[in-house]
Amino acid sequence: MKSHKLLYGKRGLIFGVFDRQSLAWHVARQCAIEGADLVLTNTAQAMQIGDVEQLAEELNADLIQCDATDTKQLEFLVQNAQKVLAGKLDFVLHAVAQSQNLRRGKAYHELNYNYYAQTLDTSALSFHKLLQTCYQLDALADNASVVALTYIASERSLAGYNDMADAKAMLESIARNWGRIYGEKKAVRVNTVSQSPTITNATQKFYRISKFAQITDNLSPLGNATADDCAKLCVALFSDYMPKVTMQNIHNDGGYSMTALSDKFIDFWEQQTHKKD
Ligand SMILES: NC(=O)c1ccc[n+]([C@@H]2O[C@H](COP(=O)([O-])OP(=O)(O)OC[C@H]3O[C@@H](n4cnc5c(N)ncnc54)[C@H](O)[C@@H]3O)[C@@H](O)[C@H]2O)c1
Repeated sequence: MKSHKLLYGKRGLIFGVFDRQSLAWHVARQCAIEGADLVLTNTAQAMQIGDVEQLAEELNADLIQCDATDTKQLEFLVQNAQKVLAGKLDFVLHAVAQSQNLRRGKAYHELNYNYYAQTLDTSALSFHKLLQTCYQLDALADNASVVALTYIASERSLAGYNDMADAKAMLESIARNWGRIYGEKKAVRVNTVSQSPTITNATQKFYRISKFAQITDNLSPLGNATADDCAKLCVALFSDYMPKVTMQNIHNDGGYSMTALSDKFIDFWEQQTHKKD
């Protein structure tokens, strides 16, 4: 009898596992639970300082080093991932982002343009490079599913998110364009998941992340989406149960993106300020 696991027999490539907090780690673990065979990838530096090897071992996944901004390394990765997994890729997760401007505390009105270009290259163009590499090597299976993780600062101006907001807007546009091209070619779906603020290595430098996460949690009718919620949504998108969902930016945020003000938030604000009407 065929397994009921959602990703049984599927081959997946996962970018961005750094440590146990990484959103990509939660996605990779859930994909493994649902029966997928995986290749994990990250940069040489991340492999040195993160827990990447140990986490790959836990999932019995292969590990291939790759800087996602380097097209030669992407070619090597995509070719070898297919060899290791013995077939074309059924799904890919792009969970790659970095901003030196954010890390070094440079505000939007004083950006270093070399860092700005790096932010766009690492956090947005890398997604185009990845998809173009897959397309040219014909590395994705028919009906494959590709997901990139994004954030609502792409759609609304948000204090402190800095040049990463521009990168995320570009990332979402790249997803739509590849969704059209790859959809027509091989029924490949390309979506972005706009995740609630979640404490990870990448967000530690983000301006008042804990306070901000408290605010969005209280504004969202369902509360913030956790990393596990993100993993489940990605698994659903990678599965055969969302065959016609493509070119979308899917908000995994408990309803935050559609809420201007909630009773829950007013209660929270009154508690914080000890004020009542
Ligand atoms: N944590 C959040 O609140 C949140 C919310 C929405 C979206 N996201 C997005 O989720 C994704 C994953 O971030 P995270 O929060 O899990 O943090 P994380 O630090 O665990 O993941 C970021 C990953 O990007 C990798 N990376 C950086 N430069 C790279 C390069 N040149 N080539 C290959 N990999 C590279 C890092 O090594 C790291 O593994 C990012 O795109 C982030 O913007 C995060």
